[in-house]
Amino acid sequence: MSKRIGVLTAGGDSPGLNAAIRGLGKAAIERHGMEVVGFRDGIRGLAEDRSFAITPDFLSGILTVGGTILGTGRDKVHRMTMDGQTVDAIPIISEVVERNQLDCVVLLGGGGTAKNALRLADAGLPVMHLPKTIDRDVAHTDNTFGFSTALEIATDAIDRLHSTAHSHHRVILAEIMGHKAGWLALGAGIAGGADVVLIPEIPYSVDSIVETIQARQAQGKHFSVIAVAEGANDVAAAQAIAAAESLRKAAGTPQEKAAAKQHLARVLDDHREHTFRLARSLEAATGLESRVTILGYVQRGGTPCAEDRLLGSRIGTAAAELIADGVTGVMVASKGDGAAPVPLDEVAGNLALVPADHPWIRTARDVGVGLGD
Ligand code: F6P
Repeated sequence: MSKRIGVLTAGGDSPGLNAAIRGLGKAAIERHGMEVVGFRDGIRGLAEDRSFAITPDFLSGILTVGGTILGTGRDKVHRMTMDGQTVDAIPIISEVVERNQLDCVVLLGGGGTAKNALRLADAGLPVMHLPKTIDRDVAHTDNTFGFSTALEIATDAIDRLHSTAHSHHRVILAEIMGHKAGWLALGAGIAGGADVVLIPEIPYSVDSIVETIQARQAQGKHFSVIAVAEGANDVAAAQAIAAAESLRKAAGTPQEKAAAKQHLARVLDDHREHTFRLARSLEAATGLESRVTILGYVQRGGTPCAEDRLLGSRIGTAAAELIADGVTGVMVASKGDGAAPVPLDEVAGNLALVPADHPWIRTARDVGVGLGD
């Protein structure tokens, strides 16, 4: 009997998702003789059985399309709002998987989706995770589809900000996505020739950034471009967030947990708009007008670049082959030019942050980029 697989996309959308859906679907149907069922709108669509048959026609013409043709959402399998109630949707999802007679549900998503996939696997469901995110913060994979396109977009933005910063003798801060990881800001900062790059992994001091800007002024360069990761923090904020996070981890009783969660939310809230505060501090200290550009969702939108189309296609087709071989309960990681299965419990909850000794850090320092430390 031919295998039946389900597929959904979850978490933030990411360029290359459609290439991966297409790679998985084409290989599953045409090479391995499987039937493929799509679920619309992520985990919610799985729980509410928003399923439909995926045909080769449906997969035609989607390779170059941005976003996800399946729709997405950020629901959690174990805590989902359904009919106004917060419920554990895992038993409901089990019934949907059984009803659709699925041999595997393939979840395309980032770190949150890896956690959802592990919860489903722990409940005995056959699942597979394909790593996508512009943040490149999924553990045990060389890359995630979406990152390369976002890197191009952020680099292009930094390029463009240079000419206007130069013309007006301004400091321009470009806030770049990446969640708690600095890959996107660091990569785009190096590729775009930013003068300072601030990433979450290296807490910054305003004085250090001011020194870099003033050293440039002393060389007659009366402008600077700063790539700021959305998760970057100054030293004090980094300490406050780390302390609130440890409190939350240590909390035992439900009351302690609720209080610690609220406290962390307050600390994070205080940190919102930090890029604007930094711009004001830099303007006061350097006398140069300072402006902020938040790149935001443009980094996730539009046509995937060639690299992401290739990566999505590679990982999608590799997933179909693994399922044909009877493998489930894994993430399909990109390793060099190939793909390899990694057990979900090694991936879920493990963020891939920029290590202090990463070659990109060394490169940035060697080309004179200030890292704010
Ligand atoms: O994970 C991708 C990402 O774009 C992060 O860089 C960003 O922090 C987050 O999603 C934004 O989430 P949302 O789409 O829920 O606003």
